[in-house]
Amino acid sequence: MSLIICHGSIIIFIFTLEVCFCTSCNCTREKHNLYLSCNQPNEDEIQDCFEKNKGAINVYVTHSNLKRIPPSIRHLHRVQHLDLSKNYITEIDNYTLNSLRSALQILVMNHNNISVLRNGSLDNLTSLQEIYLANNGLQEIEVNAINSKLKSLHYMQFSNNQLKLLDIGLIWVPMLFNYTVNVSGNAISNFTNHKGIRVSDFKSKTSFRVDLQSNQITTIDVNYLLRLGKAERIWDLYNTGIGGINILYNRLICDCFLYPFSFYINFFKGMDDLNPVYNMRCAKPPVLSTTPIAKVSIHDFNCSVEGCPPQCQCTRTIALDLITVVCANDTLNTIPFELPNGKFINLSVHSRNVRELSDRTYFRNVTDLDLSSSSISTIQADFLPHLERMGTIKIYDNSLITLPEGIQNMNLENILSLYLHGNPFQCDCHTSWMKAWLQKNKAKIPDVDQVLCESGQPKGKPIIDALDSEFVCDGISLALVLAISFGGLSVIVIFLFTLYFFREPIKVLLIANYSCFQCLRRKVATNLPFDIFISYSSCDDTYVQDVLIPKLENDGFRLFTQDNFIPGIPITDNILKGIDSSFTTLIILSNKFLESDWCKYEFEQAYLKVLQEKERHLIILSLDNELNKERTPKTLTLYLKMNNYIKVSEKRYLSRLSLALPRIQARNEDSERTPLLQD
Ligand SMILES: *[C@@H]1O[C@H](CO)[C@@H](O)[C@H](O)[C@H]1NC(C)=O
Ligand SMILES: *[C@@H]1O[C@H](CO)[C@@H](O)[C@H](O)[C@H]1NC(C)=O
Ligand SMILES: *[C@@H]1O[C@H](CO)[C@@H](O)[C@H](O)[C@H]1NC(C)=O
Ligand SMILES: *[C@@H]1O[C@H](CO)[C@@H](O)[C@H](O)[C@H]1NC(C)=O
Ligand SMILES: *[C@@H]1O[C@H](CO)[C@@H](O)[C@H](O)[C@H]1NC(C)=O
Ligand SMILES: *[C@@H]1O[C@H](CO)[C@@H](O)[C@H](O)[C@H]1NC(C)=O
Ligand SMILES: *[C@@H]1O[C@H](CO)[C@@H](O)[C@H](O)[C@H]1NC(C)=O
Ligand SMILES: *[C@@H]1O[C@H](CO)[C@@H](O)[C@H](O)[C@H]1NC(C)=O
Ligand SMILES: *[C@@H]1O[C@H](CO)[C@@H](O)[C@H](O)[C@H]1NC(C)=O
Ligand SMILES: *[C@@H]1O[C@H](CO)[C@@H](O)[C@H](O)[C@H]1NC(C)=O
Ligand SMILES: *[C@@H]1O[C@H](CO)[C@@H](O)[C@H](O)[C@H]1NC(C)=O
Ligand SMILES: *[C@@H]1O[C@H](CO)[C@@H](O)[C@H](O)[C@H]1NC(C)=O
Repeated sequence: MSLIICHGSIIIFIFTLEVCFCTSCNCTREKHNLYLSCNQPNEDEIQDCFEKNKGAINVYVTHSNLKRIPPSIRHLHRVQHLDLSKNYITEIDNYTLNSLRSALQILVMNHNNISVLRNGSLDNLTSLQEIYLANNGLQEIEVNAINSKLKSLHYMQFSNNQLKLLDIGLIWVPMLFNYTVNVSGNAISNFTNHKGIRVSDFKSKTSFRVDLQSNQITTIDVNYLLRLGKAERIWDLYNTGIGGINILYNRLICDCFLYPFSFYINFFKGMDDLNPVYNMRCAKPPVLSTTPIAKVSIHDFNCSVEGCPPQCQCTRTIALDLITVVCANDTLNTIPFELPNGKFINLSVHSRNVRELSDRTYFRNVTDLDLSSSSISTIQADFLPHLERMGTIKIYDNSLITLPEGIQNMNLENILSLYLHGNPFQCDCHTSWMKAWLQKNKAKIPDVDQVLCESGQPKGKPIIDALDSEFVCDGISLALVLAISFGGLSVIVIFLFTLYFFREPIKVLLIANYSCFQCLRRKVATNLPFDIFISYSSCDDTYVQDVLIPKLENDGFRLFTQDNFIPGIPITDNILKGIDSSFTTLIILSNKFLESDWCKYEFEQAYLKVLQEKERHLIILSLDNELNKERTPKTLTLYLKMNNYIKVSEKRYLSRLSLALPRIQARNEDSERTPLLQD
């Protein structure tokens, strides 16, 4: 059983194959109509079919994988309607088609692969009325492909192709009087005129339709088209016939460039709403999207303008010759100095960093000035004349404390309105004139009731409602200001006095804490070989050797002490040498000191020296708080009464001592040394 089934299927398979190989084309004749359909185009079969059906009038060879127009088509002398749709034909072969000559009226070649419609390919088809080349990937229709030889042509279907440019020779086809060109669904964005068509030569009887729907036209630049068609006036275009150019579903931008075209559209007023001219809609700008061009206000055909400041947007409204400038950007810190030129300018500036309103050259052309929500605190006098001619001026929500007084001389009659609310106006004796001015001009100041006093006695009230008696300058506060100023001055004076009074302790403090020793001491130029002669009792030797000398040596002083005494010389001479050769004599006073006659002698001599040479120094450092008065010589008691001396018990006495010791300047080292010491 299974074997029989198997055998049977093999037989069926072979039969099927036989059908495929033997007849790849199906040739069917129905009266005037001839249908040919091939799986594989087989020239012999096609020729056979055509030869057998020479009289056919309508011939359909579709879906047949044809790569070219079958040459045997020349046998069909009487064909009027030839449909070669849905094949892969790449070219309209004029040699082949020529054989059809005068008979062929309708050539349908939709859905093929023809990328160029070449010059001359249809030339001998003088009876051709309709040509269909939709869906071919057609990129170009050569300029002379459709020409005056095709006298009967009235429908050209080129839709859904890839045409980018449309030559106006295809819109205004010479010699044709009633025709339609369908180039919908292409990528047309612009027009050419390679044939040099003059639209003015066109006959007004001509009736034509051009279907340009669903292309990529962004504008109909009438001026460009006029130039292109060598026409002078828009009327020349209008007179070119009873035309209908359908540009629905394009990407029209309703801006300056489309504005002249919108006039052209208006010539069609009175036509019904279904007329495509009336249904052309804007694709852009977004606010006008889907609005019919015919319904767009002339004030809406805007363009951007060059020369716009970076923080601003500038728009030209072509119908009004108006430039609208909006600068809402806090990076702006001044009103722009230059704007694009325009007969009329509307300027808005909103920036928290704009503080001043002064004149700009372009202000002459400014109609509306909106400076609201900025930080203007000053209006310069050079701006004021513009208050006599601008339209609307908005200076509300700014930082004005007062208005410039010159505003009183301005005549606001010609302006439309001036807005001032939201400014921190100060109401006092200086601004009382503002009330009168607002009252006088309130007809031009719509927000006059919201122009308030921000400070002063009538705080919070509308300025025009404040009482005259409230515009006062506060005397007390003035006195307060003066008092505060005086107070401040006094504090400074007291401080300086204190500084002067306590200059010594301050210096001591500086020396003690910041070692600012060299910088504060008096400078003395001297040739003496020693800075300090220390005169002390040998009983105080420990203190002098352990504390004082290291400290003074450390401070850079050169000391003459009893160690420098030269043996063999009388002690009085040594003392005198020490006093003579030192700039300062430092007495270490103590009760022990007072007990020593030598010490007292030293004091006497030093004292004498100071009396003789005024620049010499005598400094007394007292080790004991209480001195034995009986033993104190009269000269010393007197000296201590007259002069300050330093007590060891005092705080920072060493620093005070350093300060008291003059700073010795560099001097000529060798030659000037006292000869006494060199002995
Ligand atoms: C041949 O064409 C005719 C008419 O269109 C149709 O009826 C018939 O089925 C076709 N035959 C084949 C084998 O395609
Ligand atoms: C159409 O023609 C182009 C050459 O012009 C070819 O590359 C392409 O394959 C063709 N397309 C088809 C579907 O035959
Ligand atoms: C036929 O077409 C070819 C190119 O396709 C062209 O060169 C020739 O001029 C055409 N013939 C006529 C008579 O237009
Ligand atoms: C077109 O027709 C004319 C005669 O009418 C002929 O001379 C010319 O060769 C034809 N063109 C082509 C390309 O066949
Ligand atoms: C087609 O014809 C026009 C006008 O005669 C000519 O300017 C153009 O160069 C031709 N194009 C080609 C590809 O031959
Ligand atoms: C133009 O042709 C169309 C058909 O294609 C026809 O309806 C119309 O009446 C014709 N108009 C003129 C003025 O010939
Ligand atoms: C143009 O062709 C498209 C489809 O390809 C069609 O919808 C439209 O009606 C045609 N326009 C005219 C005027 O024939
Ligand atoms: C159309 O082409 C002309 C010439 O090349 C050009 O000046 C114009 O800007 C183009 N228009 C558009 C809308 O692309
Ligand atoms: C065009 O500009 C004017 C200002 O001049 C503005 O009022 C109008 O809204 C703008 N229209 C569009 C569509 O941008
Ligand atoms: C403000 O202007 C600056 C250029 O000056 C720009 O970078 C910034 O994006 C602007 N900001 C706004 C909000 O427009
Ligand atoms: C102001 O308008 C006049 C025309 O009324 C124009 O000539 C001038 O260039 C404009 N000035 C500016 C700065 O835009
Ligand atoms: C701008 O200017 C025009 C005419 O100059 C005016 O009609 C319009 O009201 C102005 N103001 C605004 C805010 O657009």
